[in-house]
Amino acid sequence: MKRILILVALAVCVCACNGTDSGYGYRIRDNRIVYNTPPRPAGQQSMLGFACDPIDTVRIGLVGLGDRGYSALKRLPIIEYASVVALCDLFPDRVEKSQERLEKMGVPRALHEFSGDDGWKSLCELDDIDLVYLAVPWQLHTPMAVYAMEHGKHVAIEVPAATTVEECWALVNTSERTRRHCMMLENCCYDFFELTCLNMAQQGLFGEVVHVEGSYCHNLAPWWDGYQGDWRMIYNRDHRGDVYPTHGLGPVCQLLNIHRGDRMDVLVSMDTDAFNGQAKADERYGEGAVDYANGDLTATLIRTRKGKSILIEHNVVEPRPYNRMYQIVGTKGFASKYPRPGLALGAGSQEVLDSDDLDAERFLSDAQRDSVLAAYKHPIAREMEDLARKVGGHGGMDFIMDSRLIYCLHNGLPLDEDVYDAAEWSSVVELSEVSIRHGSMPVVMPDFTRGEWDRLDGVRFAVK
Ligand SMILES: NC(=O)c1ccc[n+]([C@@H]2O[C@H](COP(=O)([O-])OP(=O)(O)OC[C@H]3O[C@@H](n4cnc5c(N)ncnc54)[C@H](O)[C@@H]3O)[C@@H](O)[C@H]2O)c1
Repeated sequence: MKRILILVALAVCVCACNGTDSGYGYRIRDNRIVYNTPPRPAGQQSMLGFACDPIDTVRIGLVGLGDRGYSALKRLPIIEYASVVALCDLFPDRVEKSQERLEKMGVPRALHEFSGDDGWKSLCELDDIDLVYLAVPWQLHTPMAVYAMEHGKHVAIEVPAATTVEECWALVNTSERTRRHCMMLENCCYDFFELTCLNMAQQGLFGEVVHVEGSYCHNLAPWWDGYQGDWRMIYNRDHRGDVYPTHGLGPVCQLLNIHRGDRMDVLVSMDTDAFNGQAKADERYGEGAVDYANGDLTATLIRTRKGKSILIEHNVVEPRPYNRMYQIVGTKGFASKYPRPGLALGAGSQEVLDSDDLDAERFLSDAQRDSVLAAYKHPIAREMEDLARKVGGHGGMDFIMDSRLIYCLHNGLPLDEDVYDAAEWSSVVELSEVSIRHGSMPVVMPDFTRGEWDRLDGVRFAVK
């Protein structure tokens, strides 16, 4: 009898595992999905606080010259100590168009150009580049980044950096083994309101930050046709879960000092049916030709080790105004960015004179808000705002992001966003899908720092 019970227990265990071959999968234990955190392989070292030797001029190889990569060429050539020396896309005409853009910007054409399916490998193998900058479809991010690091290059990867937990570990392990930076280009961390609120939070204006919210709510109707080979629609068609979590998650994780004092611990996700998503797929592939997987709205709740909570949402198919939510709930104050920026700093009346008055806790007036925002403007925004707004790129945040990346590499400083940020924020792509596919079961998240999540003291943007 005892033997039968052991065999049954083993069988249940095998059924409830996933990806155990790689050691990066999960098991279901006590009605929770528990992801493994495998031990660090020999020969690797933590990348927390990592800085490399200063680089005089950061020579960049840019892969992917579609919408995002081509727009990076409006910014990179004008950043001091940056030089675009190699270009690559599937299509030679996109490379040529990008070369022409460099000429129009008054800088030399890139020395090296590549095209075709595997041109990116030759780019990564070059001896005269320092940084590979990737703006390609999601599934190509990690394989390209790993190859680039293995060929001695630092990498900057568009969002999300990875689409599976196994890929997240591949980024972490390769970065730790090769001692190369791996930054995900999460530009929303550099928007002006977010930077200033981060500064306010670090100076205690919100008290203890107990809950934060972020989202990617953006009706992509005008954009679906532009993605090369339909990659984005295909990914959404085939996957449930929050497939694009990092714009919402990045800035709010910085507020909570994730892996710099706290860590994301347990996640639960839930989605709606695919109402507009299915209609969009019917329009594209023919009525009933495909089952569209991605729910119109996906909500994910995350609880941290230190008892804080995070709510993120993903919604790209409903006709609603753009919204990244960005909300901060603290013991002494509140901030909210959409639909219009607002601050409430606990100055409301404590006496409720009329039980119908729900407004005792009020937003600051616009003038008061603006004067607080001006007083607490983040030093980085203070330094770069004018030029950033002029150059643009989502209002200027893209320029600040690229400038900070080059500044840190040039000065040999730790980057603002490290490989653990890239892995933690991107892992939600898979973790949310797995939670949903198990009836919104809680997921115990992997710890990409392997137990070192409270070694650093808070989020800091390094300056020389
Ligand atoms: N941070 C942001 O605000 C933001 C905004 C838009 C897009 N993105 C991200 O940028 C990335 C690219 O998105 P996009 O909108 O530019 O898509 P896109 O389809 O317009 O461009 C992708 C480019 O990659 C090229 N490509 C595909 N396979 C390749 C290969 N093997 N070698 C070289 N090039 C290859 C394609 O030809 C295309 O030019 C995505 O990860 C997306 O999530 C980020």
